Amino acid sequence: MSFTRIEPRMDRLYRSKLFVPGSRPDFFEKAAKSAADVICLDLEDAVADGDKDQARKNIVEALNDVEWGNKTITVRINGLDTHRCYRDVIDLMEQGGERLDVIMVPKVGVGADLYAIDMLVSQCEWGTKRKKRLGFEVIIESAMGIENINEIAASSTRLESLHFGAADYAASTGMRTTNIGGSNSNYAVLTDGDKDGNNRETHWGDMWHYQMARIVSAARAHGLTPIDGPFGNFNDDDGFRNQAMRTAVQGFEGKWAIHPKQVPLANEIYTPPAEEVTRARDILNAMREAEEKGLGAATLEGMLIDAASVRQASGIVAKMDQIEAKSG
Ligand code: COA
Ligand code: MG
Repeated sequence: MSFTRIEPRMDRLYRSKLFVPGSRPDFFEKAAKSAADVICLDLEDAVADGDKDQARKNIVEALNDVEWGNKTITVRINGLDTHRCYRDVIDLMEQGGERLDVIMVPKVGVGADLYAIDMLVSQCEWGTKRKKRLGFEVIIESAMGIENINEIAASSTRLESLHFGAADYAASTGMRTTNIGGSNSNYAVLTDGDKDGNNRETHWGDMWHYQMARIVSAARAHGLTPIDGPFGNFNDDDGFRNQAMRTAVQGFEGKWAIHPKQVPLANEIYTPPAEEVTRARDILNAMREAEEKGLGAATLEGMLIDAASVRQASGIVAKMDQIEAKSG
């Protein structure tokens, strides 16, 4: 390990994050009763321009009145390039009470974006004598955000998690797709085929791989949690599962749900599978026995395990313990 130590900044369970437009107060109670780990009340792109002020009022009221249970509650504010951003922060901080856990800042492009919001939030916290320290989450959803990701990740000690916004990212880089996440048949590789060049196969690629790899690595390097973003086709459960499984394997801890039916899918995929947990516990037991015999490496079911396996297995077991603690 490096002499520089990185402590994880957040210990929230974050498998599913259900988005609820602030302009749809009829959804609030349903969201509160859902199985989502996190609820995100939205003031940004899911709210029409003419509804923004009312949506802010709805959210302030809901933060005070709705029984949200043990869920993490976040609000996505409007971006720094709008005239609404400051008002969102001030009204949430001055009128939203102590229930709000985190605010989500969209379209962050440079570290100074988050620094500016931190200044505003800190002044509100001091002014209102708020007891609970507010956390931040940012959406990486532009070419600038990806290029400046390490600077952004280091820009505020309130920051807990990095999220990927596929649609805005695609728009910002000129990707030829109008889907929100998902795959694309034109992003593919043609195999050489047999010796005569026949029977060539088309293998679809993961067009989000580069961005996701950048996010997971920048997040972990700064003690932050990587979270996958939206999958727009909420009638395609298999497509959602497939994309979520890919990012879960990569190290992402959860995914947005833009419809309640995606919540159980995300909870399922980002819960480590039972056989993985059993294997992780077996590794820890086997390494404990090996250590007692003075051995640093051992075999389990014909495969090498060592101190690195202990670190891998410990992460899986700790995640499962956290999930079991939440579900009682
Ligand atoms: N939160 C809580 N409940 C919701 C919900 C949400 N985001 N979306 C739908 N529901 C409820 C509906 O009220 C309905 O409840 P009922 O069975 O008691 O009547 C049920 O779930 C089924 O809803 P459905 O009719 O399939 O959806 P819809 O057509 O009303 O709405 C969307 C579809 C996509 C517009 C809606 O889910 C939505 O606004 N999602 C969030 C979008 C968002 O925030 N995007 C920003 C991030 S990308
Ligand atoms: Mg966006």
